[in-house]
Amino acid sequence: AQQLTVRDIMAKYHNGSPISMVTAYDYITARWAQEADSDMILVGDSVAMCSLGYESTTQLSLAEFQYHVGAVCRASGSAFVVADMPFGSFEKSIPDGIDNAFQLMHLNPRVQAVKVECGLSEDDYSLEYIRELLRRGIQVVGHIGLTPQRVHSLGGYRVQGNKQSSDAVALYNVSQTLQRLGCFSIVLECIPHKISSVITDKLHIPTIGIGAGPGTSGQVLVQSDILGMLPVHKPKFVKAYADLRTSAVSALSQYVQEVHAKSFPQTGQHTFKVNDEVYDDFIS
Ligand code: KIV
Ligand code: NA
Repeated sequence: AQQLTVRDIMAKYHNGSPISMVTAYDYITARWAQEADSDMILVGDSVAMCSLGYESTTQLSLAEFQYHVGAVCRASGSAFVVADMPFGSFEKSIPDGIDNAFQLMHLNPRVQAVKVECGLSEDDYSLEYIRELLRRGIQVVGHIGLTPQRVHSLGGYRVQGNKQSSDAVALYNVSQTLQRLGCFSIVLECIPHKISSVITDKLHIPTIGIGAGPGTSGQVLVQSDILGMLPVHKPKFVKAYADLRTSAVSALSQYVQEVHAKSFPQTGQHTFKVNDEVYDDFIS
């Protein structure tokens, strides 16, 4: 299937059709997302926690991330593919950041845009970087609100823009700046739904929300949260649509028990035959 393009995403947005996005971390999760017909796949740096066992996205290197982007991109399908720019891959200098974005895209031609987390100050470095990517024709999804790569400067994983009106104004202002720079979409993470609705209404590009309520132009969730793959705390904004971990562990323990009990494999059902003559020759 042909991949959706920015034009297709914008067409959905202008029709008022909600845009679906889900994360994927490897070939399996990407296939599932493609088969589910998600409009967009995000190769999120949440792969750090959801697939690699790290505590934070700040531990993920670009090389590790590349390996996962490659696996996701080997799953074909119509989804528009966005890859995160991981922590440390663009902050050192603009030329380094540009090189790294090119590298991601050179190695993974299915990647159609990169996502960059952005702070709220008017002179935030991410704004400069995003501007330089866009000037070079690289499509960018902005990401504001709870930006996990900046967990330390935000003082933890928490709702953004709910304490003082100036914080909400700053979120609004940076959303307008990102649009003016040329981002075709913005992820809003952990923002009170009334604030994200206003931000969305004032933009003419789609917002993709996570923990941002129903008023955004689209939704994104982490696949391992949707599927209940890990024994982690479920944030309030997550809806788990399955409990794969329970089904997986139960299936695996059944297998382990059957191996111990010698009830798997079953002769006949799970075995190959050998021609009698070959066998007789073999044992003699
Ligand atoms: O890495 C990720 O999964 C994300 C989404 C939560 C937006 O950035
Ligand atoms: Na991310």
